[in-house]
Amino acid sequence: MANRKKLSELLGHTLQRSQLPGLPEPVRGKVRDIYDLGDRLLLVTSDRISAFDVVLGTVPCKGQVLNAVAVHWFERTKDVVANHLLDWPDPNALLVRKLKPLPVEVVLRRYITGSLWREYQSGTRQIYGLTLPDGLKPDQRFDTPILTPTTKAEQGDHDAPLSSEEVVSRKLVEPELWQKVQQAAFALFARGEAEALERGLILVDTKYEFGLDGDQLKVMDEIHTPDSSRFWESSEYQARFEQGKSQKMLDKENIRQWLIERGFSGEGTPPELSEEIRISLASTYLDLQQRLTGTEPTLPVDPPAERLIKNLRAKGIL
Ligand SMILES: Nc1ncnc2c1ncn2[C@@H]1O[C@H](COP(=O)(O)OP(=O)(O)OP(=O)(O)O)[C@@H](O)[C@H]1O
Ligand SMILES: [Mg+2]
Repeated sequence: MANRKKLSELLGHTLQRSQLPGLPEPVRGKVRDIYDLGDRLLLVTSDRISAFDVVLGTVPCKGQVLNAVAVHWFERTKDVVANHLLDWPDPNALLVRKLKPLPVEVVLRRYITGSLWREYQSGTRQIYGLTLPDGLKPDQRFDTPILTPTTKAEQGDHDAPLSSEEVVSRKLVEPELWQKVQQAAFALFARGEAEALERGLILVDTKYEFGLDGDQLKVMDEIHTPDSSRFWESSEYQARFEQGKSQKMLDKENIRQWLIERGFSGEGTPPELSEEIRISLASTYLDLQQRLTGTEPTLPVDPPAERLIKNLRAKGIL
């Protein structure tokens, strides 16, 4: 595993923002720079880290970890649901099929934690068209995963909860297609849960985005990555749960906790990320990649911005 010294050397070599000569200006999301190539997209996964919908800075290797993990899962779930992946020309870039995105983010949860726990704790029992029973404890497991869809917010807005009925009645997705989406999401989650557990990890919850390729449903964006999912250490779950202690996390929740401890939960100016937290996050991301994919991550030798251009040229994309 990468040592702290190596990671601290990489602090000055993160991919903050891609600049690709010869391509039109990309749309810049919080994490990805999206280049429109007609029927394909070049998704450059930067090293930017966001939490509470705010970009906070960069974390070494984060972009390449997200891509490695997403590609791993796209490969391992393509028998379950087709996906957008076409090629992986550079550690930080994916070439994907451009889809017509469905305007719903499909979240699956196996445990009550995070925002859902906060809602529940404040007394909410009816949400996402579901009725939650009284007496649940933080981080408690549901017998079956629950589906908690949200709107796919425009830039700057926060996602809002939806019920399945609303998805259909608000004509966000056709009823038959929505059935297919739900089946696909549960099937993907079952696969993800089972494989994560073989590697000693709990897939706690995750977000899927789907799109249409003609009339074929495909999963897009990223799947089962530390940005789109929560992962806990499975060997420690039960004891921590019984003692009412927080779980050992290997995902983006770590940065949310760090920010909350410093009084930031989305409003105002976020604290500047220390070198310490950037290194520790890099190490968590790399560790998760290693655990999930079973392969030792390759750390960058050249600055990623230059390597990206070289690799895209070699592939004839630039
Ligand atoms: N195959 C695809 N076809 C069309 N859009 C896609 C595809 N794959 C991913 N996207 C979109 O590209 C964007 C990825 O960028 P990124 O992850 O940075 O966005 P975000 O931070 O999640 O959201 P925002 O765009 O609000 O900043 C998402 O809006 C996602 O829906
Ligand atoms: Mg995203």
